[in-house]
Amino acid sequence: MDKNLAPVSSGVKKITTHVLQEMKMKGEKISMLTAYDYTMAKIIDHAGIDMILVGDSASNVMAGHETTLPITLDQMIYHAASVIRGINNCLVVVDLPFGTYQGNSKTALESSIRIMKEAGGHAIKIEGGKEIIESVNRILSAGIPVMGHLGLTPQSIYKFGTYTVRAKEEEEAERLIEDAKLLEQAGCFAVVLEKIPAKLAKKVAEELTIPVIGIGAGNGVDGQVLVVHDMLGLNKDFSPRFLRRYANLYEDMLGAVQGYITDVKTQDFPNDKEQY
Ligand code: KIV
Repeated sequence: MDKNLAPVSSGVKKITTHVLQEMKMKGEKISMLTAYDYTMAKIIDHAGIDMILVGDSASNVMAGHETTLPITLDQMIYHAASVIRGINNCLVVVDLPFGTYQGNSKTALESSIRIMKEAGGHAIKIEGGKEIIESVNRILSAGIPVMGHLGLTPQSIYKFGTYTVRAKEEEEAERLIEDAKLLEQAGCFAVVLEKIPAKLAKKVAEELTIPVIGIGAGNGVDGQVLVVHDMLGLNKDFSPRFLRRYANLYEDMLGAVQGYITDVKTQDFPNDKEQY
């Protein structure tokens, strides 16, 4: 059977939205990283991650754009399908890219269906609260799990004007809490909170029954997500306070490539054992 079409209950225990809900209830923290390609997804899944996010941050780290806005639905489907081919156990959430859901719930549903059908995604993520709730409802009515995303929502960067911490003021914090509750009531299985004060994120996690996943939102939430290129140290120029680097792959790869160049130039590579 095509792996993408295998029932979720077959084989080893798979992470489903129900498993994530149980983890929240038991107080077990949820781990999530981004991935955009087969090889990286395979390693991350093998390591035992709970969720992979095929984030529209692919626009930045894979394509080199300054913002997440240019990436297209076709490109997201390409990345998501590559990730799906690499995983066995984790739940794969795919971002709805900018322009594929705003203002029109029919388009939002059609975009989500393409992600589920063509990429084999397990769920979609969508940025925003009250203003996109009609789209959330319509996607959910088709049986597609939805993850919300509040706080710093990078697709709105031209409205915010900066990537600084959101919801520091009382009014925006109140609105964020209301939006989080709306998303939960609509039936979202989880919500991402990006770059907001830790105290506010903790309050949201305590008030919601669904898992709240943080990025730059402190330790009082139900799980954490990071962009994999950032946490592996592939991206030297990005050092926000919330980022912990678990490797220094930029330097490691630089050294490896420089070593190869030297060996080629000096004719050290290939040696007698490395040829036929
Ligand atoms: O696209 C992405 O990587 C994201 C995370 C930062 C949450 O949305």
